[in-house]
Amino acid sequence: MKKMMFVLLHMFIISHLHSTLHAEESWDKCKRKALYFLPTIQGWCTAEKAERMMDLIYETQPEVCVEVGVYGGSSVYPTAVALKYLDHGLIYAIDPWRNEDCLVGYEIGDPNYNWWKRVDLEDIYDGFLKVLRRHKLNSYCYVLRMRGDEAIAQFPDASIDILHIDGNHTEESALYDAKAYLPKVKQGGYIWFDDANWPTTGKAIDYLLEHCELSHGSKRGDDYLLFHKQS
Ligand SMILES: C[S@@+](CC[C@H](N)C(=O)[O-])C[C@H]1O[C@@H](n2cnc3c(N)ncnc32)[C@H](O)[C@@H]1O
Repeated sequence: MKKMMFVLLHMFIISHLHSTLHAEESWDKCKRKALYFLPTIQGWCTAEKAERMMDLIYETQPEVCVEVGVYGGSSVYPTAVALKYLDHGLIYAIDPWRNEDCLVGYEIGDPNYNWWKRVDLEDIYDGFLKVLRRHKLNSYCYVLRMRGDEAIAQFPDASIDILHIDGNHTEESALYDAKAYLPKVKQGGYIWFDDANWPTTGKAIDYLLEHCELSHGSKRGDDYLLFHKQS
């Protein structure tokens, strides 16, 4: 029943949002354009990672993508551009854009605490919405302004094709995101995990390694990894 409601909601969103077809352009040109604009978008997604994310979408043609931890949209942007190119699928962009949620789990005085306490997340959120408008991506991105644990009920088990975990990086939060969201990913689906080389994300990485195949990167050293949830 829950799954049925999710499918109907998803179809409703897509049918009401998808109005424009991608312009006639080659996939390479689409990627070049996205990578050209990437530095104008707030966040940490590198050109290399953005291109990998786009290629995975091009190859797998996902229906449902989910990102936990959006910030200014530097990784949602290439995802949504690829979905727009295919004129297929939707990225659910989950982030509370609220300082107090970013501070959870950090000691006062920790450099991360100081940084997340000061950043103007209202401004970052406004910038993200402008990116969606400017690049005409609203039809391919559904914004959920809430924490990952608050959004999780919206996704039935085995409903997500591609998940990106990039929210709060403390040990407890990162492990929660991995454990709670993995069942939501379809068999055969993919999970990007960012900042995989932080000491605090180690337990989440170990959990994903126990349950998935590593598809890109190596556990030691790489800042982002791609996991494949095998069928
Ligand atoms: C590292 S940034 C995301 C970077 C972005 N994915 C990129 O590539 O540029 C982490 C984001 O996680 C968000 N965040 C913090 N706690 C969260 C939670 N419990 N659930 C979802 N997002 C959270 C923060 O507001 C912040 O925008």
